[in-house]
Amino acid sequence: MSAPLLTALPAGPDDLTVWPASTTRLPQGHLSVGGVSLAELADRFGTPAYVLDEDEIRARCRTYRAAFPQADVVYAAKAFLSRAMVRWIDEEGLGLDVCSAGELELAHAAGFPPERMVLHGNAKSPRDIELALRVGIGRIVVDSPSEIARIAALTGPAGRQKVMVRVVPGVSAGGHEKIRTGTDGQKFGLSLTDGSAQHAIARVLGQPQLELTGLHCHIGSQITDVKPYLVAVRRMAGLMARIKDSHGVTLPELDLGGGHGVAYRPGEPALDPTALARRLTGELTDSCTAAGLPVPRLLIEPGRAIAAP
Ligand SMILES: Cc1ncc(COP(=O)(O)O)c(C=O)c1O
Repeated sequence: MSAPLLTALPAGPDDLTVWPASTTRLPQGHLSVGGVSLAELADRFGTPAYVLDEDEIRARCRTYRAAFPQADVVYAAKAFLSRAMVRWIDEEGLGLDVCSAGELELAHAAGFPPERMVLHGNAKSPRDIELALRVGIGRIVVDSPSEIARIAALTGPAGRQKVMVRVVPGVSAGGHEKIRTGTDGQKFGLSLTDGSAQHAIARVLGQPQLELTGLHCHIGSQITDVKPYLVAVRRMAGLMARIKDSHGVTLPELDLGGGHGVAYRPGEPALDPTALARRLTGELTDSCTAAGLPVPRLLIEPGRAIAAP
C-alpha cells in the first residue's frame, strides 16, 4: 500500500493539533513529522507503520516530570513499547509499568533499571512473577488474592519483595464502559466496597517476604475530567487511614494509575497534566492532613498521554 493512507488530510484540513508538534504540511500536501516525510516512510517501510517522534515523546515526559516534581512518573508500557522507547523513558527519568513477561523482558534487555519498574497484571503467571523477582523488579502490584501466597513463596524465606495492592475504589470514569476500571464488576483489582481490598491488605501484611509500600488504583482510561481522580484520592486516603488504625502501618506510597485522556480527533478534550497535578496534589495533601496521615509519595502511570501522538 502506498502513501495516501498516511498522508490523508486530517479532519479540518489544516488542524494538526492531534499530531506531534513537529508536524508540518509539505508543499505537495504530504505531512512531515520530525522533519521526515511520511510519504517517504510509507514508501520505505510500507503501511501500516508506527512512526514515533522522539522529541514529542521526550517533551511529554518532561511536561509530566515538571508537573509532578515530587512524584514518580511511571510510563505505562502497554501504550507502546520498543527498545528505543525504553531508552527514551529511562533517559527522561521516568519509571516503567510493565504488565507481561514480554514487556518486562524487552525493557530488561534494553537495559532499563529494574528497580524503576512496576509489574501489573490480573493474571500473572508463575513465570511472570519469577522473571520479575529474578531481575529485581521494584514493585509488584497485587491484583488478586491468589497472587499473595504465590509471590511470597517465590520470593523465598530470605527475600523481601516490595508490593502494592490494586484497589477498586468505586469511582466510575473513562471514555467507554470497557475501559472503566474503577468500579466493581470488572476484572481488575480488589474491591474497597465489598472488603476484598482490606482482606488482601491484611494478608499481605502477614507475609514476612512482602513489604507493602502502598496502594494502587487505576480508575479507567480516556478520562478528561479531574474530579474522578479527586474522589479516588479521598477514598484511597480514607483506606490508608483505616490501615493505620487497624494495623498500625503508615503506607509511604500511593499510585493513582494513568488514564489521562488524549484527543484522537481535532477538537476532542484532553486532560492537562499540569492542571491535574495541581488539583491532585492539593487534594492529596488535604485528605491526608484531615485523616492525620503524612502525605505519601505519589506515583502516576500515564500511557497514551505520552505515546498517543
Ligand atoms: C494499571 C494501569 N496503569 C496505567 C494504564 C495506562 O492507561 P492510559 O494509557 O489510559 O494512561 C493502564 C491502562 O490500561 C493500566 O491498566
